Amino acid sequence: MPVSVVVGTQWGDEGKAKIIDLLAESHQVVARYQGGHNAGHTVVVGDQKYALQLVPSGVFYSHVTPVIGNGVVVDLPTLFNEIDTLESRGVSCSRLKVSSLAHLIFPWHQAHDALSESSLGDQKIGTTLKGIGPAYADKSRRVGIRAGDVRDAGRFKKLVRARAMDEQKILVALGGEQLNVDQIVEKFVALGKRLEPYVADTVNLLHQALGRKENLLLEGAQATFLDIDHGTYPFVTSSNPTAGGACAGSGLGPRDITRIVGIAKAYTTRVGSGPFPSELLGDLGEKIVDIGHEFGTVTGRRRRPGWLDLVMLRHAVRLNSLTEIALTKLDVLDTFSTVRVCVGYEVDGTELHGYPDDAQVLAKVVPQYVDLEGWNCSIRQVRSFADLPPQAKALIELVEQHVGVPVSIIGVGPERNECVVRR
Ligand code: GDP
Ligand code: IMO
Ligand code: MG
Repeated sequence: MPVSVVVGTQWGDEGKAKIIDLLAESHQVVARYQGGHNAGHTVVVGDQKYALQLVPSGVFYSHVTPVIGNGVVVDLPTLFNEIDTLESRGVSCSRLKVSSLAHLIFPWHQAHDALSESSLGDQKIGTTLKGIGPAYADKSRRVGIRAGDVRDAGRFKKLVRARAMDEQKILVALGGEQLNVDQIVEKFVALGKRLEPYVADTVNLLHQALGRKENLLLEGAQATFLDIDHGTYPFVTSSNPTAGGACAGSGLGPRDITRIVGIAKAYTTRVGSGPFPSELLGDLGEKIVDIGHEFGTVTGRRRRPGWLDLVMLRHAVRLNSLTEIALTKLDVLDTFSTVRVCVGYEVDGTELHGYPDDAQVLAKVVPQYVDLEGWNCSIRQVRSFADLPPQAKALIELVEQHVGVPVSIIGVGPERNECVVRR
């Protein structure tokens, strides 16, 4: 299993980091391939809880080289804050490598994100305001500044100043605040100096690791339905979290990838705006939010709750070529007397065949549910499939029947060892 990809199959926060941490034990490299510090990846090791935004979730193992791949957009203040926090807690980041090709986020990106959101009013996307969209826009406009640019400090300083001066004019014209250009240049020159030892040709690094027959794990952030192409546009992020993005964002080729694990919560959540067919607006939704602690790791926002949606999951299997699914947070449903699962969509009384290609249609579908009996007991101590209550097994079997790939891992609690791994 040399190259595995872990990808979110819903709208993010499926518990990707926990599964990556679990799988990282048998991998020598863990590489992020897209997104930036909009991600909030929680890993619980014993009584210690870590919230990662940029550092790959494999960092907790000393045998793992954590890599920030070329497809990631990197906010340097956040990166160093994260490194300092991890190191102060005894987690070494000295092995971390940042792709020379990864684009950097600057304060003007955050300013544009905020301006754009406020101008959209009640149509706003509900972004994390981290400057992710504007940074990817600059990458596409071919005016971005990349991590490798810090290797020539004099040139880097000029690039930052020139971009800051240009953005200054645009932001002011849009009614935004003045940038303090001198302060930004000074700050980023210092950050660039600090970044330099981490910068590497990570494409080469990954291929060399492959050549040594090492196991590589590619860590997705966000998720399938936040994908810029395949998500609920425009309520999406600005990168390709889907498995195809793992190649573009790491420099590995499609034929290098051998295992693609889709992470799905046993229910669904979404942060920010956009259609959500199986959304639960009443007390049951509150109960999921309470028990599942469904508040954003990065922004603290309440996540919108809903039932598991197998129409979406089946689409995610196709889009990502999933070889298997990890079904997380099954324990959150322990006290539900009935567990609902969406197995189809209807529009105006007519059944849809599959997931619609139009977010306007998705916004008006009527989900068709199957009601399953709950198990009404705690499953947090369960470590083998055989020991799961029959009602929980029935849910897993329903998932497998509908989506056509096996559920290979089942999450029964937040901690590293709280899962059932089926071999
Ligand atoms: P990610 O962005 O996909 O990595 O997910 P987050 O870290 O944002 O959110 C997932 C949350 O669920 C975190 O607080 C995890 O500690 C927690 N979690 C992950 N797996 C499980 C599980 O199987 N059961 C429970 N109860 N919590 C889990
Ligand atoms: P992880 O990796 C959940 C959402 C935002 C917003 C939309 C666009 O922890 O699963 P952006 O700031 O990316 O331009 O916001 O995407 N979003 C996430 N939702 N989990 C995430 O990451 C997210 N990253 C972005 O809430 O709706
Ligand atoms: Mg998250």
